[in-house]
Amino acid sequence: MPVDRYAVFGHPISHSKSPRIHAAFARQTGQTIEYTAVDVPAESFREELFRFAANGGKGLSCTVPLKELAWQMADEKSERANRAKAVNTMTIGESGKILGDNTDGSGLLRDMTINLGIPIKCLDILLLGAGGASRGIIGPLLAEQPRRITIANRTIAKAEQLAMEFSALGSIEVFEFNALKDKSFDLIINATAASLSGELPPLPENLLNPNGACYDLAYATQPTAFVHWGLRSGARISVDGIGMLVEQAAEAFFIWRGIRPQTRPLIEQLNSERSAATNL
Ligand code: ATR
Repeated sequence: MPVDRYAVFGHPISHSKSPRIHAAFARQTGQTIEYTAVDVPAESFREELFRFAANGGKGLSCTVPLKELAWQMADEKSERANRAKAVNTMTIGESGKILGDNTDGSGLLRDMTINLGIPIKCLDILLLGAGGASRGIIGPLLAEQPRRITIANRTIAKAEQLAMEFSALGSIEVFEFNALKDKSFDLIINATAASLSGELPPLPENLLNPNGACYDLAYATQPTAFVHWGLRSGARISVDGIGMLVEQAAEAFFIWRGIRPQTRPLIEQLNSERSAATNL
């Protein structure tokens, strides 16, 4: 029997942790799979996707900059993928039909609620950013019934657009960064791309309630500027998106293989490797 083949497509991809994560899940659950990382820029996505499917590939993870394209390309899409207008997990059926799903939001929620013990219900949440990363998590967050989600973005029109799209699912309000001065929140989620360049959105002091939590969707080899900001602001928990990365992968593995792997040992291992590297 040939080994079932999976891959992550994205660009750049050389630092992707996904092959390692899926290899660990496969070992842990006794599954035999192959999972590789393939450098695929947006312009060759269609060709590479069809080649992969024609060669018997069973499933794909799609990452930056392909998630929106993947949503356009999938033959059938889950409701959560349609809300996000993005696909990060593709399953290729026997007939070659491509099913698109999005496990980012549920990955974030599993990390927050199960791993970190942050209950979302009734929280006042501030979401920084109004791009694709925000779009992917607003629906799943609102399903947990927070008190309200406030979206703050540099370009206010993008935040207003998101609020309009999701307002049927719960309470959403929109502010510019400089209008946040007298406000405070229980949970602040950074979904801007600022972290990746070591920057921070302009945030006023006293934005975080006592005992509040901060979560950066991005992750890097060192704590991000936003994680540091959270710690300086007295956050009970201030973490980056490593846990979300592992959890969204576990959800994809479950979709493909029907088995839910344990995530905690891997998250702990990735975190301890990073702190060891940071202390060098
Ligand atoms: P992604 O898919 O990762 O969300 P995106 O759709 O390009 O990427 O969105 C990036 C988000 O980060 C946007 O909300 C962007 O703000 P604008 O909508 O005003 O462009 C935000 N962003 C990027 N760099 C930023 C910075 N230095 N400070 C604040 N916000 C920033």
